[in-house]
Formats: sequence, structure tokens, C-alpha cells
Amino acid sequence: MKKSLLLLFFYFLHVFVLASADPVYDSFVQCFTENKIPDSQISSILYTPENPSFTNVLESYVRNRRFNVSTTPKPNIIVTPTSEAHVSAAVLCAKKLGIQLKIRSGGHDYEGISYVSDTTFVILDMFNFRSINVNMEDETAWVQSGALLGELYYRIWEKSKVHGFPAGVCPTVGVGGHISGAGYGNMLRKYGLTVDHVIDAQIVDSNGRVLDRESMGEDLFWAIRGGGGASFGVILAYKIKLVPVPPTVTVFRLEKSVDENAIEAVFQYQQVVDKLDNDLFIRVLLQPITRNKKRSVRATFIGLFLGDSTRLLSITGSEFPKLELKKSDCHEMSWINSVLFWGNFDNTTSPNVLLSRNPDSVNFLKRKSDYVKTPISISGLESLFKKMVEIGKVGMVFNSYGGRMSEIPESETPFPHRAGNIFKIQYSVNWNEEDEEADNKYVDQIRQLYSFMEPFVSKNPREAYLNYRDLDIGTTNNGKNSYSEGQVYGVKYFKSNFDRLVRIKTTVDPENVFRNEQSIPVQPFRGRKARK
Ligand SMILES: Cc1cc2nc3c(=O)[nH]c(=O)nc-3n(C[C@H](O)[C@H](O)[C@H](O)COP(=O)(O)OP(=O)(O)OC[C@H]3O[C@@H](n4cnc5c(N)ncnc54)[C@H](O)[C@@H]3O)c2cc1C
Ligand SMILES: *[C@@H]1O[C@H](CO)[C@@H](O)[C@H](O)[C@H]1NC(C)=O
Ligand SMILES: *[C@@H]1O[C@H](CO)[C@@H](O)[C@H](O)[C@H]1NC(C)=O
Repeated sequence: MKKSLLLLFFYFLHVFVLASADPVYDSFVQCFTENKIPDSQISSILYTPENPSFTNVLESYVRNRRFNVSTTPKPNIIVTPTSEAHVSAAVLCAKKLGIQLKIRSGGHDYEGISYVSDTTFVILDMFNFRSINVNMEDETAWVQSGALLGELYYRIWEKSKVHGFPAGVCPTVGVGGHISGAGYGNMLRKYGLTVDHVIDAQIVDSNGRVLDRESMGEDLFWAIRGGGGASFGVILAYKIKLVPVPPTVTVFRLEKSVDENAIEAVFQYQQVVDKLDNDLFIRVLLQPITRNKKRSVRATFIGLFLGDSTRLLSITGSEFPKLELKKSDCHEMSWINSVLFWGNFDNTTSPNVLLSRNPDSVNFLKRKSDYVKTPISISGLESLFKKMVEIGKVGMVFNSYGGRMSEIPESETPFPHRAGNIFKIQYSVNWNEEDEEADNKYVDQIRQLYSFMEPFVSKNPREAYLNYRDLDIGTTNNGKNSYSEGQVYGVKYFKSNFDRLVRIKTTVDPENVFRNEQSIPVQPFRGRKARK
């Protein structure tokens, strides 16, 4: 009798503390309770818009201001798990209630698809999962999905000055999206992609089970190394193999105007850059500028060389003379300082800055990508420079390929853009005006340049890099799970690996719990049968 009264009391307390005006929230709370998550935990990990911290939590990992305006759709709930059980409950409850779950780690998705949707949705925000355990004995690390690349680089450097990791250049990018979407950085020619150095993983699957490499099997383990985590499960952590870096590396940043033979240098870049010594990676930025009231394009060459400047200069002198690299352009430093250099910090900055999870500023932005397999001619480059001036604000980034990238077969991981590519292009436009007119204007500009480039880039398919998310190349209606829609962007991101991704998806997530605007679709027939 006493006990049942007490139970009744707790029941009303539960209703009083956790009930809200939102039926989605109420159902989630009930489902979390059914999954044995204590009320005290539920109330501290679930945020509704009524919660005074909701806006702050939501905006903390917004990295494109286009998706931080009053018209941006908001989630009904943000779940901020602190344990595996919370993640499992979130997956099972989203599945049971048929609500879309958006998974967010670092929030750097260019189209904001980790925290925006056009349907009722819940964000599973992984920022509490951010531990990093570096083990120098076997030169590996377990890194949780909510950790940022800068934190990872810092933790490696803390333990060893001659180890590094080949991942992205921007230190605030999250591990969960970056690694599951393939990942590359300035050691790409030496070591290949980030996913070429992943040796184990921990995920929560569509049945709420926590799996590692052995229990998930090699198919699923293959898929989450470049196929995008968000189609297959919630990545909790990856185990990575560190790579050796020399005690001294050399960096340079060299600007060339058209008068300083920018076009000739970019032309030669294309002839040589994929065949240079694997220790050398060169990025080119092409940016429209105004100088002495004249509009023009400036080329900036940014390099990382895994060695000293003497050897670097002998390579560029003989292979890439049009670069005209001089001793005074070269800066020798430790690998961790090269991370800061590439992150655009000035040379007095301490590596501690890598532990800061907030970028200095967040812009309105749009990105697109392309792959180049045959060099663009001098006259082609001249017309490109002219077009960039004409269009206005859009810039381009060329990232050199070749080296280790050409040795790894296309089917080794879902990322198919390996041998045969000279460089990848990222189209880039940033702006600061918060209005729809500006949004339309700059998005239109980047589409114009992308359209102009068609004759110069890969065809059938016109390839794209998943981590440079671009919804222009095709989307699938959320939850509609159309194979034919998925195929449109799927072959651009994955070429013939798309079919294997679809087969794996159909096996591990037949009910399409893990879906988004560009997720891997379930196979048309088998998927429907499996749903029964
Ligand atoms: C400033 C900037 C610099 C960049 N530089 C580079 C670079 O040098 N090299 C490069 O390769 N890329 C680069 N990128 C792209 C970046 O790799 C991708 O945007 C990446 O997906 C970001 O991961 P995230 O966790 O920060 O993003 P999020 O927005 O959190 O996630 C991106 C995608 O992954 C999914 N996802 C996230 N976490 C998980 C998880 N735990 N489990 C399952 N799915 C998950 C999301 O649902 C979403 O679909 C850059 C992006 C920005 C904004
Ligand atoms: C989002 O918008 C709010 C309100 O305008 C602003 O205070 C905040 O700084 C913005 N955050 C980001 C990351 O854009
Ligand atoms: C740091 O940069 C400044 C300005 O570019 C330069 O004068 C200085 O020599 C640099 N210091 C080191 C240690 O590289």
C-alpha cells in the first residue's frame, strides 16, 4: 500500500517535472523512461525550445550563418547524450516514433544538414563525447566523435613531437562528420585520406546496439569510412593509427598577381603537382581582388613539405620553376606549428589555441566541389580568370592529388576519387549580409562559376566530395527513401561504390532510421520486404 502510494507520487512528480506542451517531447520522455533512462538524467540531456539554454546549445555548433536565421527550421528536441545508453535510447525512440534524428558532431556540414531539416526532427548532439586517448606504445588513438581535429592534433603533440595525423586543416572540424565522410588534409599525398588510417570504430546501430569493428563486420566498417556516418548509425568513436612526421617541416605561402605570371604558374602547377615528391603538398587559392582600382585574380600557393627547406627548394627548382620559390619564402618549424600556420594563426600563437572549440568568426557561406583529370590550357585559365572577375566574389581552392592517393584502389573505401585526379577544386564564397537578396546573389554566383567550369572537370559522373556537402547536386525527399533520387548524388560522391553502400544500408538499416537529404537509400524491393 505504502509502496504503491510512493509510486503514484513519483508518477505525478514525473509528469509534473517532465511534461510539456509538445507531444513529440512527451513521447520521447516516455520512450526514454521505457528504455530505463532515469528521470534525473532525462531532464538534463533533453532540451526543448522552452528551455532557456536551448538556443545556446543549438547555436554552439552552427558553422554556417545561413542556417542561423529566423526562418531556419528548429528541432523539437536536442538530445545531448553523456552515455552510450542515452545514444541507444535516442536511436530507438526516434525509430519507434518515426521522427527524424539529425546527428551532429562538429557542425561543419556546409549545408547544415546535421542540425536543420524540413520535417519534424530531433538533434542528437555529440559534443559530450569528446575524449581522446593517445597510446604511444602502438601509435594509435581512440577519439570520440565529438572531439575536434585541433584537440586531436594537440593530444598527439603532447605525447610525441614526431607523430601526427593526416586529417583536415581547419581545427574546429568535428571527428564524427569528418572521418565518416573520408577526410583529407595537407598530408594527403604522403599518407592518403584520414580513413586510410582508421583501424576500429564504435557505433550505435539502428537497433540501438553498441558495436565495434568485429561485431559490426567488415561491410559496415567499410561503409563508415567515407560513406557518411549519418546513413548507417551513430559513430561513438574511431580508433586511428598515427603517422610519423619529421621534427622539422617547411611551409610557404606565396602570392602571385597576373603580372607576376600567376597564369603560367597555375598552368605549370597542373603539369607537375600530382607527380612531385610525396612529401610535398601544394594548395592554390584563386581569389578575385581589386588592386589600384583594377579587378583581377590573385593566385596564392600554400605548401607543406615534410622535410627541410634545402630539399624543398631543390624539388621546386627543378620540377616547378614557375613557382619561383625562394629560401626567404620558406619557414621551417615543427609539425604542430605547421598546423597553426595552415589554420591561419600568426606565428606567435601557442598550440593551446587548438583546444579552443570556437572559431573566431562564422560566415554565411556556400561551397561546391569538382575534380580535374586533365590540365586546363593557358587560354582556358585566361578565360577562367576573366570569368571570376566578371562573376564577382567566388574563389577557388585547388588541392593537389597523386602520390599515395593514386596507389589506393577506388574500392578500398567508399571515397572513389583516387588515381587519375590531378587536383580537386573547392568553390568558395563567403558573405556577411544577412538577407535573402545576398543569399540568392552569392549562391547564384557560385553556381555560375560551377557551370562555367563544366568543360574542364570530370564527367559521367561529374564527381563531388561528400564532405563538401552540396545539395545542388541532388537530394532525396526526407524519409521517402527513393533509390532513383539517391542514385543521382550517390554516383557523384561514390561512383561505383554507391551500389555496395546501398546493399550495406539495406542490410543494416532496412527501415531507414538514419536518413537525411543525401543519405544512402535502401534498395527498392528488398527494403520494402525487410520492413515487414
Ligand atoms: C571551415 C571548414 C574547413 C574544412 N576543412 C576541411 C578539410 O581540410 N578537409 C576535409 O576533408 N574537410 C574539410 N571540411 C569539411 C568537413 O570535413 C565536413 O564538413 C565534415 O563532415 C564535418 O564534420 P563535423 O562533425 O564537424 O560536421 P557535422 O555537421 O556535425 O556533421 C556532418 C555530417 O556527418 C554526420 N555526422 C556527424 N557526426 C556523426 C556521428 N557521430 N555519427 C554519424 N554521423 C555523424 C552529420 O549528420 C552530417 O551528415 C571543412 C569544413 C569547414 C566548415
Ligand atoms: C546566431 O544568431 C544569433 C542571433 O542573431 C547570434 O547571436 C549568434 O552569434 C549567431 N551564431 C552563429 C554561430 O552564427
Ligand atoms: C613571425 O612573423 C613575423 C611577421 O611575418 C616575422 O617577422 C618573424 O620573423 C616571424 N617569426 C618567426 C619565429 O618565424
